[in-house]
Amino acid sequence: MKRTHWWQTAVIYQIYPRSFQDSNGDGVGDLAGITSRLGYLSELGVDAIWISPIFQSPMKDFGYDISDYRAIDPLFGAMEDFETLLEAAHSRGLKVLLDFVPNHSSDQHPWFIGSRSSRTNPKRDWYIWRDPAPDGGPPNNWLSEFGGSAWEFDGKTGQYYYHAFLSSQPDLNWRNREVVDAMHDVLRFWLDKGVDGFRVDVIWHLIKDSAFPDNPPNSDYRPGKPPHQKVVPLYTTDLPEVHDVIAGMRRVVDEFDDRLLIGEIYLPLERLVAYYGRDLDGAHLPFNFALLNTPWDARKIAQLISEYEAALPRGGWPNWVLGNHDQPRIAGRIGSPQAAVAAMLLLTLRGTPTIYYGDELGMPQAHIPPERVRDPFEKNVPGIGVGRDGSRTPMQWDATENAGFSTSEPWLPLAEGWKSANVANLREDGTSILNLYRRLMGARRKSAALAHGGYRPYLTEQDLLIYFREFEDERVLIALNLTHIDSAITFPPGQIVGSVLVSIFGDRDGEHVADTVVLRGDEGVVIKLDSV
Ligand code: NOJ
Repeated sequence: MKRTHWWQTAVIYQIYPRSFQDSNGDGVGDLAGITSRLGYLSELGVDAIWISPIFQSPMKDFGYDISDYRAIDPLFGAMEDFETLLEAAHSRGLKVLLDFVPNHSSDQHPWFIGSRSSRTNPKRDWYIWRDPAPDGGPPNNWLSEFGGSAWEFDGKTGQYYYHAFLSSQPDLNWRNREVVDAMHDVLRFWLDKGVDGFRVDVIWHLIKDSAFPDNPPNSDYRPGKPPHQKVVPLYTTDLPEVHDVIAGMRRVVDEFDDRLLIGEIYLPLERLVAYYGRDLDGAHLPFNFALLNTPWDARKIAQLISEYEAALPRGGWPNWVLGNHDQPRIAGRIGSPQAAVAAMLLLTLRGTPTIYYGDELGMPQAHIPPERVRDPFEKNVPGIGVGRDGSRTPMQWDATENAGFSTSEPWLPLAEGWKSANVANLREDGTSILNLYRRLMGARRKSAALAHGGYRPYLTEQDLLIYFREFEDERVLIALNLTHIDSAITFPPGQIVGSVLVSIFGDRDGEHVADTVVLRGDEGVVIKLDSV
């Protein structure tokens, strides 16, 4: 077997800690809660968990606003709870990835409190300060992703500071060497504790143009879209120097044994792949979010896979994502029956898959009544559907009160259907999506072709997506029906002979296949081909 890193054959599972398991009855998930559910994750068959931020935070953006990078927020527990979790996960063979948020801190971070206290404070240049425009307004037209200008005026020192997100999330100045060193030490702090790597928040944002030119207007902008899209973020994201910053982080991660660096990057494929770095000295895995916005259409998905495969740099390892805490749930987008097909796609494509917690239950996009909205993005830019609460609702463990998530009212309402779509129920049903996820991960573990073999497209017709995974003489065929209508495909005689390894409904395992693959509506099969 060729040498692979653990993260190449791993399945990553994202935990949004506020919503996974509450252990102390405050309606918000916590670290002890996650520890208590590690058995579930082992049984599910994932290899690594990525936990969204658990650090000290005023929680204006639910942990993506950090006021101490080395402390656990009391809402989630204490440092000992984290150490217990890490040890318990490791003893089960589960890796633990943390969420590193280097682009901005909280405005309550002592660094920023110092920075805004006077123009001569030693931390002044740790953030991005500019004089007002001649009319006293913001220095330029840069916009915040969460609405309004990205510049906030500070009356005391008479300058504006830049914030790509909330005004309580000031951007750090990554052109300042002291910032770089301080952040590298944060990485080392957690790596020394034994964490297995990081998912790095908005990594493509880290460097801004030092001349601060206006961003150009976006001629494709249409009303109803988030207002920050009125300009093209030409001078605020994806600048060439960002790759040096990432290579610096990578060097720190490489001081330790076989740790993983993942970058959060929303860019078109051809720009995304640059984040592997020159000579692969960037992120090991620049998150590939392309499935999130590709129409659920076999031809379009086949084309996307081929384009991504072709764009990857030599030695760059692929990865796929179907959901996260910022995006609508996949089951909400394409419906529950196709969510199972999506699971089969995610777990049979070449590369490292990331599962978003609850997608293995087919959790829907929840409707959040206006009075329960918590997301600051929705509060700042209401009514156009940008709210992210609907994909952050509590994990559905069982049919008891609050779905077994908490003994008190959860911080967000439960999604509809939790009384049946919960772990306790679905575990007992051999045909459930939960058991499909388990069977698919079981198959990946047993098949070198699925775990790290090559990808070869076959054809796409009648909305069937068909491809091979191959390693040495092991060949696996995946056939997915992206419609609700029964379908069949006949191959040239003698080419496709084998047996079903996994089928969506769980009732065809071991079935012999020769020349013709029959698929019911919303069905997919993984077929192990006989060697020729
Ligand atoms: C990306 C995170 O995933 C999102 O939840 C957060 O609001 C922004 N970065 C700002 O940190």
